[in-house]
Amino acid sequence: MNLPEDLPKAELHLHIEGTLEPELAFALAARNGVHLPFADTDELRRAYRFEDLQSFLDLYYALMAVLRTADDFTELADAYLARAAAQGVRHAEIFFDPQAHTSRGVPFGTVVEGLARALEGSEERHGVTTRLIMCFLRDESAESAMATLEEAKPYLRHITGVGLDSAEVGHPPAKFREVYEAAAALGLRRVAHAGEEGPPSYIRDALDLLGVERIDHGLRAMEDPGLVERLVRDRVPLTLCPLSNVRLRAVDVLEDHPLKAMMDAGLLVTVNSDDPAYFGGYVGETFHAVREALALTEEDLRRLARNSFEAAFLDQEDEALRARYLAEVEAYTFD
Ligand code: ADE
Ligand code: ZN
Repeated sequence: MNLPEDLPKAELHLHIEGTLEPELAFALAARNGVHLPFADTDELRRAYRFEDLQSFLDLYYALMAVLRTADDFTELADAYLARAAAQGVRHAEIFFDPQAHTSRGVPFGTVVEGLARALEGSEERHGVTTRLIMCFLRDESAESAMATLEEAKPYLRHITGVGLDSAEVGHPPAKFREVYEAAAALGLRRVAHAGEEGPPSYIRDALDLLGVERIDHGLRAMEDPGLVERLVRDRVPLTLCPLSNVRLRAVDVLEDHPLKAMMDAGLLVTVNSDDPAYFGGYVGETFHAVREALALTEEDLRRLARNSFEAAFLDQEDEALRARYLAEVEAYTFD
């Protein structure tokens, strides 16, 4: 029997820095002469016990110290794309956090050129089409976000959209209104993390003030029936990350995850891995885990895969590609 892992799918919520496996972290540390405060990969893995989003972010940003050259970013992204391809991913929309690198003295161009090299070879090497989305860190200032958008201008051919991530609570969307307006004027697509730990009002504000087309997470939408109605009516995609929600304690156990309830409510949800090196699974393993925990049917899994291609930033020129991917989903057999 086929495993649901190899169901054709798009991954729409994936932080490339969150794919840094301990083995690669130590290899890059050695190559770049960076000291890591862990004896070995086992000790590092033992640190992957998180209380909440912030406790994860502290380690996530600390480990980025090993990423220094364009080659490092190419190697990181290529390793992710190879793993994703092996788990049925046909299309990946990949986040990166430029400010987390420029603040350490790694130039914006080094990061983008390194990532772009891997992404440009991806269709041929791995059979995965890609998009790149740059995220602003919401716990940094609006001025820093605007300066980052300015730095991106020479590289816009590589960048499809902007997102908003990092510590959510206390950093509502309103602060980033101007930079999202400027991004839209440059023709960039817009998404934002909202309702991961923050309240449903952050989801409304991301839609109303930032004009986003998709919400990343959106887990807490379910607390606000009026908001659910709006998201259903407008078919706003929510890129859920169930294993992340368990590891960062947004839900206690996977069996309590609202994914199925959200599908039943008519929401256009997708299943994604967020930061798979840290949260115990890439997207194929995530599909497998939610199938088991929530007793999803084959039709539920097929619908999640279909949703992922419907929500993908494949514009008019790419409609044939979307149609091909959707046909692959329909043709997939589970046994
Ligand atoms: N950066 C990387 N992963 C994140 C997450 N789950 N939420 C917010 N910011 C992030
Ligand atoms: Zn995320």
